[in-house]
Amino acid sequence: MIVSHIKLKNWRNFSTVDVPVRQRQFIVGPNASGKSNLLDVFRFLRDIAKSEGGGLQKAVKKRGGLSKIRCLAARRDPEVSIEIALSNNVDEKPFWRYAIGIKQETRGYRQPYLSFEKVWYQDKRILSRPDREDKKDPDRLKQTYLEQVNTNAEFREIFRYLESVNYIHLVPQLLRFAEIIQGGMLEDDPFGQGFLVKISKTTSRIQKSRLAKIEEALKIAVPQLQQLRFERDKDTGQPHLAALYTHWRPNAGWQREDQFSDGTLRLVGLLWALLDSDSLLLLEEPELSLNNGIVSHLSPLIYRMQRQRKRQVFISTHSESLLSDGGIDGREVLLLSPSPEGSSVIVASAIEEVKPLLDAGLSVGEVVLPRNIPQDIEELGNYE
Ligand SMILES: Nc1ncnc2c1ncn2[C@@H]1O[C@H](COP(=O)(O)OP(=O)(O)O)[C@@H](O)[C@H]1O
Ligand SMILES: [Mg+2]
Repeated sequence: MIVSHIKLKNWRNFSTVDVPVRQRQFIVGPNASGKSNLLDVFRFLRDIAKSEGGGLQKAVKKRGGLSKIRCLAARRDPEVSIEIALSNNVDEKPFWRYAIGIKQETRGYRQPYLSFEKVWYQDKRILSRPDREDKKDPDRLKQTYLEQVNTNAEFREIFRYLESVNYIHLVPQLLRFAEIIQGGMLEDDPFGQGFLVKISKTTSRIQKSRLAKIEEALKIAVPQLQQLRFERDKDTGQPHLAALYTHWRPNAGWQREDQFSDGTLRLVGLLWALLDSDSLLLLEEPELSLNNGIVSHLSPLIYRMQRQRKRQVFISTHSESLLSDGGIDGREVLLLSPSPEGSSVIVASAIEEVKPLLDAGLSVGEVVLPRNIPQDIEELGNYE
């Protein structure tokens, strides 16, 4: 199952969004145009659906309250809303649609509550809140039906889908210093601090086969790297990754992850995430710390890996190299453009001037990214 359409109202720096999405979806736009905010829609839905410690109240609180979420450009309309369509394949009609509207109490604890919650199964509406029970007891609207097992039975599939959404933005320094900064880990570990522990918890068969696949890629991408293995420290039992490099004496050349380059660590984290599950994967700027040669191969690699598993990937990026692959379709790119009324989101192929250039053989990177450069950027050259 994949997300095939997104509709938003007053979500962060977007007043309205209404776009179809593909199985591999790139999100591009200048700094602060809302790429991370767009990905956050799915982390938010996951935070609601999560079996342990999930729920609407917590998901809103984690983001600093509804006033932080609600678009600042939304003057009169107090409602934030999200609607997603889920389909078996991109071009098929949606199977499911899930929609919520959220408002905040105007007095008292100012808690967020649902202005509506709706579910459609193949165009038939199977849930519409507030329902009769909600009207009797409005406090019920502080929880979604999605987050409760005794109320989401009829659309458990949506719940399962959303609770398993995966986000990764691996920060190499956090991984390297994970032992020292122990304990200070964020919920769901978005920055990969607990990555080694995660590897250590997979069964040895899966661990071996994944690391072998990753090793295969690293041998191509990282000069001199020959072998990659998982090991535990003899004294402390701590999990580690180790790599053997050819330019040192045999067996003396094993290095642990604290000596890996940022790019190597990010690549390992990226490949692991791609191999990890079948659920929606949100990748933040996978190009970071990697050289352009590698980056230019990432898009087709992601495509091949996800196609085997029918998996959906959303990728925020600034990189022309990442978008240089001729196989990227204009529909696979969402372009975010900031304005005082909030950022707009459009599918690149829907931009009139873009299509003929793509048809003429230019890559999405060449055509779309120049549109991202702020108008007065030259002035930065005079800045002191
Ligand atoms: N509720 C909101 N209303 C309006 N703007 C917001 C809101 N929440 C965050 N923003 C703005 O969104 C921008 C950050 O967006 P972000 O998704 O991090 O950008 P990107 O990932 O594209 O660099 C910031 O400029 C921030 O001020
Ligand atoms: Mg960002």
